Amino acid sequence: MASIYIETFGCQMNEADSRYIADRAAASGYEISADPAAASVVVLNTCTVRDNAERRAYGRLSHFKALKKADPSIKLVVCGCLAEQDRDRMQKIVPYVDRVFGTSELARLGDALAEWRPTFEGDDADETSEARALLKPIGGTADCVTDAFTHLRAFVTVQRGCSYYCTFCIVPHVRGRFDHRPLGDILGETRAAIAAGAREVTLVGQTVNAYREPATGADFADLLETVAGLEGLDRLTFLTSHPKDFTAKLARTLGTLPQLEPRLHLPVQSGSNRVLRRMNRKYAIETYLEKIAVFREHCADWALTTDLIVGFPGETEDDFEQTLELCRRVRFAQAFMFVYSPRRGTPAERWEQVPAEVASDRLRRLADVVNAGMRTIHDAKIGTVVRALVQGPSRKDPSKLAAKTTDNVTVIAPRPPGPDLSSARPWLEVRVETAHVWGCHGTIAGDAERYVGAAQAVAPPVLSLI
Ligand code: SAM
Ligand code: F3S
Repeated sequence: MASIYIETFGCQMNEADSRYIADRAAASGYEISADPAAASVVVLNTCTVRDNAERRAYGRLSHFKALKKADPSIKLVVCGCLAEQDRDRMQKIVPYVDRVFGTSELARLGDALAEWRPTFEGDDADETSEARALLKPIGGTADCVTDAFTHLRAFVTVQRGCSYYCTFCIVPHVRGRFDHRPLGDILGETRAAIAAGAREVTLVGQTVNAYREPATGADFADLLETVAGLEGLDRLTFLTSHPKDFTAKLARTLGTLPQLEPRLHLPVQSGSNRVLRRMNRKYAIETYLEKIAVFREHCADWALTTDLIVGFPGETEDDFEQTLELCRRVRFAQAFMFVYSPRRGTPAERWEQVPAEVASDRLRRLADVVNAGMRTIHDAKIGTVVRALVQGPSRKDPSKLAAKTTDNVTVIAPRPPGPDLSSARPWLEVRVETAHVWGCHGTIAGDAERYVGAAQAVAPPVLSLI
């Protein structure tokens, strides 16, 4: 039978695109495979936001070369931001790739899958060929592998592209300017995801809170209210918000919708106004702090997470100290910390760079401050019972379950005896016993009857985050 393997690098937008590809493939009669060596089509959905994402994608492609050499009938496909950026030269660099699809060509990829489908009839006998066995297992290189079981968590794209042109960022160059989807499309897709078993719906966009309904001009707070009202919706969340568009109305709305998971990702990037200006971030640090204060008035217990860049061109020791000070003051529940990576064609690429050793030293110092804050937040969970959505078996110890709390903290607990509870009852209640920087360990609180959200049986996600 025709089957497709999809490997995804990068952000939530790519994950949403991979879900779209999986749905189109399933509609054309493909089985979703978790093993590239057993697939008729192998799709690599790429990212180019930092240099290491590019290197990982090309590394992965050279790995897939053995597969293609062993069986030329396999279709090897590249899509996503790197495909868009390198579209003219990619087939020169990796000539064994069959097709390259840019970020706006997902529908064409879906059409190609439908076209290829009949050519894979009767291909089954080949699946165990020795040549395919040459391919090594994935080994955790991708950020996500889409399989038939990823539907517990649905990603619904509300907006494509970004018009803000931060001076470090490649996204507007490879995904274009804002393109907001009509409300009807968003609601239709969310309803379909709920019907397919999704327990957690994430509305995604690069700057999701800049959303404007094309016909009515309704804003993101209005959109959240409408989606939260959908019948059967369990939990709702959204990624990524921009501080500039974080309004008092949105803060008020977050505080009134019980369906929302209590977490807000609000990338600040730097604690220095001088750096923020050069980044073209469109806010000052004082404004960021004022907005968080309003947010806290309505959402006192929510987790606030962020993104930070160190070593941005021209960042001085004093600028960096201001970032450290901000993190001590705000104590983020989680921070994604990056060393600035020059991106081709962006303004900051042409500016004088901070030496690599200075930037990596700053990253270490920043991580110390952020980790100390995270540990304090996790320590406060010891002795409490948290609600968490199952992710799958723990990677380190598959006899245990990995789950994410509604405020996005990883918890690991021994798998309870009996039937596969993770599939029928994806929400767990976990009593937290020990805390760490990465998350918590605990035990399942009570018996299976105390699990919530058991209405619908769905398959467990194969991907585990630990
Ligand atoms: N739209 C989001 C926002 O408003 O900040 C960010 C999207 S970007 C794909 C995710 C994160 O990657 C950014 O928040 C930033 O911290 C980081 N990032 C983007 N470009 C980068 C670069 N050139 N070097 C290092 N980190 C970068
Ligand atoms: Fe990139 Fe800035 Fe938009 S980080 S995605 S240009 S808000």
